[in-house]
Order: sequence, then structure tokens, then C-alpha cells
Amino acid sequence: MSKSIVIFFSHAGDNYSVGNIEVGNTKIVAGYISEIMGADQFEIVTHKYDGMAYMPLIELAKEEANKGELPPYEGTAPDLGKYDTVFIGGPVWWGTYPQVMFTLFKDIDLAGKTVIPFTTHEGSGLASCVSDVKKAFPKAEITGGFSIYGHEVRTGKAKVEKWLKSL
Ligand SMILES: Cc1cc2nc3c(=O)[nH]c(=O)nc-3n(C[C@H](O)[C@H](O)[C@H](O)COP(=O)(O)O)c2cc1C
Repeated sequence: MSKSIVIFFSHAGDNYSVGNIEVGNTKIVAGYISEIMGADQFEIVTHKYDGMAYMPLIELAKEEANKGELPPYEGTAPDLGKYDTVFIGGPVWWGTYPQVMFTLFKDIDLAGKTVIPFTTHEGSGLASCVSDVKKAFPKAEITGGFSIYGHEVRTGKAKVEKWLKSL
């Protein structure tokens, strides 16, 4: 049977539209995917943004994106040998995934795997996440992109389920 994993980043704390949240929006979607698909998880963690208010975070993220910075993540990259399908998810930050996700992308090889990107966002949809994942993993088969508003995820399990069934 094909085995899948969800690789995601999600920022808890002060955020646009949802206020100060204990569990990030993308993490909730990752939870739905694991529950419905039986997928394992790897959470990309950095403490760089801990406790930051929304406005300073916006500015910091913009600077990171403009400079193409690659902030380190905690721990080591996952061993993906046993997985055929890799879901990749994160919030849209300035039109693409947060830079720390690209740090991990440099450390993993998804050649020959099915890769399914998703985002949570507040208006940008998938933005350039799918094309940026294609660039990062030219030898993977990228398919089935999905996006959902961050403020909808807590009541949005059925939407996620519908998407997963369509794959
Ligand atoms: C630094 C920062 C930049 C953001 N940039 C965008 C953006 O370009 N487009 C968009 O639709 N939403 C943007 N958002 C909103 C987030 O994508 C949205 O709130 C998302 O659901 C957050 O997911 P998370 O709780 O998993 O981190 C931004 C939020 C932050 C904190």
C-alpha cells in the first residue's frame, strides 16, 4: 500500500483574521490529512518567530523573502525512503511558502515521488507555491494543489475531505 507523509510549516500566535491562535491554521489542515489518509507528519519548526506580533512578523517575512534567506529549522530532515506520496503544506507568506520551508526543500530529495502541495491563505490561494515546489523538485510528480482560507480551517474539514477524495 502506498504510504504518505505531510510535511508542513505553521505559525501559531498572532495572525491576520484569526487573532492569537494556539494551533496554526496549516497545522489543523495537516491534522485532517493525517486523520483521513493515515499519513505520517513532519512539522518544520523554527523558533525564530515565537511570540512575534503580526505586523513585525510581516516585515521580517518580507525581508527574508526579498533576500532569499534560508532560516534554519530545528532537528534534522526526515528520512522519506518509505513514502510514495508527500503532501507539502504551509501558509502563503508574501506570495509563496515561508522561507524556512525552502531551507528544508534543499535537504530532501523527492525524485520519483508524488508531491501534493497545499496552502492556507487569506486571499492569495495557492499563489506561486505550486510552481515553486516544481522548481525545487523537478524530478517529482507534482499534482493536486489545494488551498483554503486560514479563517475557514476550523470549520473546513469537509472541504479538505472532498479534495482528498478527488485525488
Ligand atoms: C508573514 C505573513 C505573510 C502573509 N502573506 C500572505 C499573502 O501573501 N497572501 C495571503 O493570502 N495571506 C498571507 N498571509 C496570511 C496567512 O497565509 C494565513 O493567515 C495562513 O492561514 C496562516 O497559516 P498558519 O496559521 O498555518 O501559519 C500572511 C501571514 C503572515 C503571518
